[in-house]
Formats: sequence, structure tokens, C-alpha cells
Amino acid sequence: MALLKVAVQKSGRLSEDSLKLFRECGIKFNNGAKKLKAQSHNFPIEFLFLRDDDIPGYVEDGIADIGIVGQNVHDEYQKNVEVVKTLGFSKCRLSLAVPREEEYTDVAYFEGKNIATSYPNILKNYLDSKGVSAEIHEISGSVEIAPGIGLAEGICDIVSSGSTLLSNGLKEVETVMKSEAVMVASKSLSTEQQQLLDQLIFRINSVLEGKNNKYVLLNAPNDSLDRIIELLPGMRSPTVLPLADKGWSSIHSVINEDTFWENIEQLREAGAEGILVVPIEKMIR
Ligand code: PRP
Ligand code: ZN
Repeated sequence: MALLKVAVQKSGRLSEDSLKLFRECGIKFNNGAKKLKAQSHNFPIEFLFLRDDDIPGYVEDGIADIGIVGQNVHDEYQKNVEVVKTLGFSKCRLSLAVPREEEYTDVAYFEGKNIATSYPNILKNYLDSKGVSAEIHEISGSVEIAPGIGLAEGICDIVSSGSTLLSNGLKEVETVMKSEAVMVASKSLSTEQQQLLDQLIFRINSVLEGKNNKYVLLNAPNDSLDRIIELLPGMRSPTVLPLADKGWSSIHSVINEDTFWENIEQLREAGAEGILVVPIEKMIR
């Protein structure tokens, strides 16, 4: 029987959210501490827990069939794998930073300077695109301490909350790229594995769509129904149920997270009241 081997980060920024996504997709497994592998008992998936930097290479070589990595790691290693899904979590940016007391105006600051990073390829492309030539000093970890120990004048590293920069006396000066978790897949999956991947992506889409939408219930006088239905198109059209109080209806629909507050304002103006908003676990159109 076909099996999908999935590489996920062993420990770090992506680990927890990656596993949470599989659990939300109804895939059950036990990952005891320090285990290298785990098998699901209700979906033909085996998890391999690896260093994120190694994941694109393992997927290219077929050690794993798919993997979850940051877009930054994918872009840096340029392995022959396919990005099959953008996952929307572990959002961060790859940025240039310099000591806080430095006077910084623009990227020309870095001309002839020494920059420490674990992302030499992405940084080189960025600097080339800006016409800046700098010395790139590749190090594999603890990049943020490089200026403090005199190894480099600036750094290019992942910034999420910004607290690592802050506690090392650095300030972010340029965003090189924005990143988030992506699913990558081998280009040589069997037909059966491709079917499993399609099933998995179908489940992921329904989970992500659920997160992007809310279920809304509200009450409105019948004479404002037309306007409210227009504001709440929902999946096909909203459900409208009569209230015991004559002349009033309850309306149920789905509303997008991105325009949520704007929509709520418009609904209130149109006469809606008693508005309840409920999270959606999964959404299949
Ligand atoms: C990055 C980066 C910083 C930290 C920044 O490491 O190297 O250490 O995250 O996050 P903050 O802005 O919230 O403080 P990452 O978790 O990607 O680990 P890795 O580079 O060792 O894989
Ligand atoms: Zn890493």
C-alpha cells in the first residue's frame, strides 16, 4: 500500500504548527519526545522529524515525499522540489539588521560591508538587485551575535517578533523577503502517492478556509432582509428563518475574516442585531 513520508521540522518555529495542521486534518499519530519517526494509524502517512534546513534536500532525494519548510529555506537551497501549498502559518521576514546606534539611510549603507547570514543565496540575489556589493559571511546559527563579536557589521536573518534583534542591540533596516510555511513535494511521486497528496491538500484547504471564515447568526426586521442578504452572500445564499416575534427573522451565513469588521458595521447599519460569530472548523465549498 502507498505511503507518504512527510518531513517536518524536529524542533523550532515550524514544528508545532506543522503537526497541528495534520491533527486538524484528522490525521492521528503519537510523536513522543525525541522520536525520529511516527506513523499515523488512520492515514497512510509517516512523519520524519528533521532539521528544517535539510528538508528540501531530503525531498529532492526521495528520502521524504513531501515536507513543510519556510519559503525562505526553500528559496535558499533551490532544490528540485515543487511548492504545492502555501500554508499561512509561521509568517516571518528575512531582514537586514545593523547595530542600533548606526546611522542608516538606505541599502547603499552595506556597500563594501561584511554581512553575516545563513541565507547567502537569497542575500546575494537581493544585493545584486540593488546594485550593492558586500562581503557575505555565511554562518549556520546564532547570526544575531555576529556584530557584537566583531564578525560582521550587519546581519541578514529571520525576524518574527523582533525580540532576538532587540535583545542583541540590533535594528531591522530592510526586508529582504516575506516568508511563511509552505508544503513542498518530490517531483517523482507515484500515482498512488499523488492521490494521497491530493486528499491531504483537499483536507488542508478545508481547514484553512474554515480559519478564513466565520459563521454568523443575526436577527433582523423583515423589511431589512433584502439589504442584509446582499451583504451576506455566504456559500450559496444565507439561511433565513422566521423568529417567534412576527416581522423578524434570523439569518445564518458565512463571512470572510479579511472584511469581517467592515461587514459587521454594514450589517448593524442595515438593522441587524443580536449578532453571534462562531468559528468554523472545516469548510468545503
Ligand atoms: C530565527 C532567527 C532568530 C529568531 C527570530 O530562528 O534566527 O533567532 O528566529 O525570531 P524573533 O524575531 O521572534 O525573535 P529560527 O527559528 O528560524 O531557527 P533556525 O534558523 O535555527 O532554523
Ligand atoms: Zn533552521
